[in-house]
Amino acid sequence: MRRYHVTTFGCQMNAHDSERIKGMLEELGLGEAVEPETADVLVFNTCTIREKPDTKFAAYLGHAIARKRANPETVIAVGGCYAEAQRERLFELHPEVDVAFGPGSIPHLGEWLGAGGFGVPRGSFGIDERTFAGELPMHRERSFQAWVQISMGCNSKCSYCIVPAVRGREVSRRPGEIVAEVMRLAADGVREITLLGQNVNSWGRDLLPDVRTEFGELLRACDAVEGIERIRFTSPHPKDFRAPVIAAMAEADAVCEHAHLPLQSGSSRILKAMRRTYTRERYLRLVDEMRAAIPDLALTTDLIVGFPGETEDDFHETVEAVEEVRYDAAFTFVYSPRAGTEAAAMTDQIPDELKRERIERLIDVVQRVAHERNTERVGRVEEVLVEGPSRTDPSLLRGRTRRNTTVNFNGVAQPGELVDVRIDAATSTTLRGAQAVPVAA
Ligand code: 5AD
Ligand code: SF4
Repeated sequence: MRRYHVTTFGCQMNAHDSERIKGMLEELGLGEAVEPETADVLVFNTCTIREKPDTKFAAYLGHAIARKRANPETVIAVGGCYAEAQRERLFELHPEVDVAFGPGSIPHLGEWLGAGGFGVPRGSFGIDERTFAGELPMHRERSFQAWVQISMGCNSKCSYCIVPAVRGREVSRRPGEIVAEVMRLAADGVREITLLGQNVNSWGRDLLPDVRTEFGELLRACDAVEGIERIRFTSPHPKDFRAPVIAAMAEADAVCEHAHLPLQSGSSRILKAMRRTYTRERYLRLVDEMRAAIPDLALTTDLIVGFPGETEDDFHETVEAVEEVRYDAAFTFVYSPRAGTEAAAMTDQIPDELKRERIERLIDVVQRVAHERNTERVGRVEEVLVEGPSRTDPSLLRGRTRRNTTVNFNGVAQPGELVDVRIDAATSTTLRGAQAVPVAA
């Protein structure tokens, strides 16, 4: 039997796409290889949001090419956002690549990798023939958790971001199809779903009037599905986070008390240059509204430092925003110019050294605040969805709270079980605890 191995870079959308890629390959009769060394078909599902994933992919590809030299039967397939962004010159840049495909072309994988197609350099790109993930065969990593794609593409024009160029304009999946998939998943034993879209909060606006609705209604419809105990979603855009969604989060029991709300910068001047279409004040007002409606809400964010023209004062406003919002966690990024984006052409680029220095200062503040937030959980009992053994200490179990914090704990439970854990200690990224023993009546 021929074996495949998929290496995934980038975001959850890509991780979900990899499940479809694996499903397609298995339908073709290939089996999964645990290690790339034992695979006949090496697939890379790439990301190009920043330079770093590009560089990382280049290193992985180098290894794959070495393997192919030793064993010319090896097939190298490159998919995802880097492949789509480089569609004009991918085979020129990397002549060893056999098959290339964009995020919209996964359904066609079988045509090149199937009988007789191996080893022929082929490519398929484009976004006019896209298929929603739930309609393709799929290989899920965990039996009790699932991603559900609700839209594809993005209509925003953030000046730093390459995604709209590679993933195209936004298309919403019809609500009936989404709920039908959630029902199928629940019947299959799934307890936690994560709704995925480049901008989940604008979902539904492009639908025809007969089914047009909004994201809050979708949350309520998923909440009504028997067996689904936790609903997460990513990512919302703050500009589209409206009152009905906040109300649905507050009222739908299964919707977790967590929102990933990318701020990007705390300076209204930089936000304007980024074309985020909200100001610092509007964002902070939204946070207040959300916290007033949803007690105990966890907030996480994405932050970029060193956007063109960012002054020390602008940067300081980002630091202050972290302290003001008190994020539970934040992903921090150094601005990375992407060819073809508006910001890459701006003349006032920030020197690398200054970007490095700023991100280090920002990380210090993010970690201190996150540690304080996690320490506030000590002494509480939290509901934890068990995921498996702890990564650092196999005598402990690992799981996540509704607020999406990882907990390592002493206990006896199976993956997929919901248990109560008393929190005893905290770091800036994880909690430690022990399974609470139910008190006998
Ligand atoms: N440089 C740095 N970070 C970026 N992001 C998107 N584009 C860039 C870029 N060119 C970050 C944003 C986004 C996250 C997924 O990646 O913070 O929310
Ligand atoms: Fe995801 Fe964006 Fe990377 Fe594509 S470029 S994998 S959409 S993060």
